[in-house]
Amino acid sequence: MTLRIAQRALGIEPFYVMEIVKEAQRLAAAGKSIIHLSIGEPDFTAPPPVQAAARAAIDAGLTQYTPALGTDALREAIAAHYTDRFRLPVEPERVVVTAGASGALLLAMAALLDRDRSVLLPDPSYPCNRHFAAVFEGHAQLLPCGPETRFQPTAAMIESAWNAQTAGVLLACPSNPTGTSIEAGVLAEIAGYVRARSGFLIVDEIYQGLVYDHKPSTALAVGADVLVLASFSKYFSMTGWRLGWLVAPKALVPTLEKLAQNLFICPSAIAQHAALACFCPEALAIYDGRREEFRRRRDFLVPALRDLGFLIPVVPDGAFYIYADISRFGSNSWDFAFELLRETGVCVVPGRDFGAAQTARYIRISYANRLENLEEAVNRMKRHLSRPARQVVSSQT
Ligand SMILES: Cc1ncc(COP(=O)(O)O)c(C=O)c1O
Repeated sequence: MTLRIAQRALGIEPFYVMEIVKEAQRLAAAGKSIIHLSIGEPDFTAPPPVQAAARAAIDAGLTQYTPALGTDALREAIAAHYTDRFRLPVEPERVVVTAGASGALLLAMAALLDRDRSVLLPDPSYPCNRHFAAVFEGHAQLLPCGPETRFQPTAAMIESAWNAQTAGVLLACPSNPTGTSIEAGVLAEIAGYVRARSGFLIVDEIYQGLVYDHKPSTALAVGADVLVLASFSKYFSMTGWRLGWLVAPKALVPTLEKLAQNLFICPSAIAQHAALACFCPEALAIYDGRREEFRRRRDFLVPALRDLGFLIPVVPDGAFYIYADISRFGSNSWDFAFELLRETGVCVVPGRDFGAAQTARYIRISYANRLENLEEAVNRMKRHLSRPARQVVSSQT
């Protein structure tokens, strides 16, 4: 049998980062010590109250299907979290519990993006967003965003890129790979522009809770017509539990429910019962302590990397990423990342996955690793980058 692979699948690029991760694994197997600054997940796991709630759910047999939109208890707890953290009342009926923010992105794109229409995305941005559009035979329209706008678009940039095919805008705040947020005033302007064109605005707040320099805010404050994605993966340290949510305009919820029923039946029951414990005071205190730990790491790493010669034009205010310009060391971040890995064992992510515009200049450095490992990584990079005869070794790929 010869299987003909569908065009929509052929058009989807693999994660380029896997090539460097595979090389890191090969080197580790050969005995080299590797420090991963490449990881997109917290180095913390779900805290004890959440683990205990998962065990209790299993013991009580709470393992059957749940409603497609999630349990009432979790939808209410998520809605209450917006009131507690942002003083913003959100009706539980607007909360759709999903299999991670990925499940929320899939539902949002299925509901809103028609074939051959496009979604405006910043370049650089999280690579899967382009592919979610492609799965529905739509397109990603990449909008180059540089350090002068904190790697985020302005309303004027959206306006000049908008065309007859554009259906909406998808932003992330704080962003992966840059760790930068978008100002509330700019977001309100973008929402106003999109609203006037009857488009959609989706804001991915998966790194919500991990902001360091300002009070956390949510795009839901900009209007009840904005769709907000969030997740238990990052601040709540539950990546593998596969749980997230979408807050949607009320009128869209029946469509999302119909899609969720057909595509997923429901999110994981055990994960939903466990996630209720995320909002207890004991768990929230643990999470806030971890946020402070991430802040300490950022505050160590940004000046240390600058001292090594990396250009960091914008101090990231959230997530656990630093988007660093390597142009003092070479012209190709792909080759630079492989060189760094082979010479020092420090694994970073070349910009290539995140877009097209300036990505050969940048690498993404994750500080989801212990402070002593970050210190060791900086020492290794210092020894290597200060060598006078340092050569940029070209990778095979
Ligand atoms: C910006 C962004 N959105 C969405 C996701 C998907 O996360 P999850 O499905 O684990 O919630 C990620 C994961 O790294 C991300 O960085």
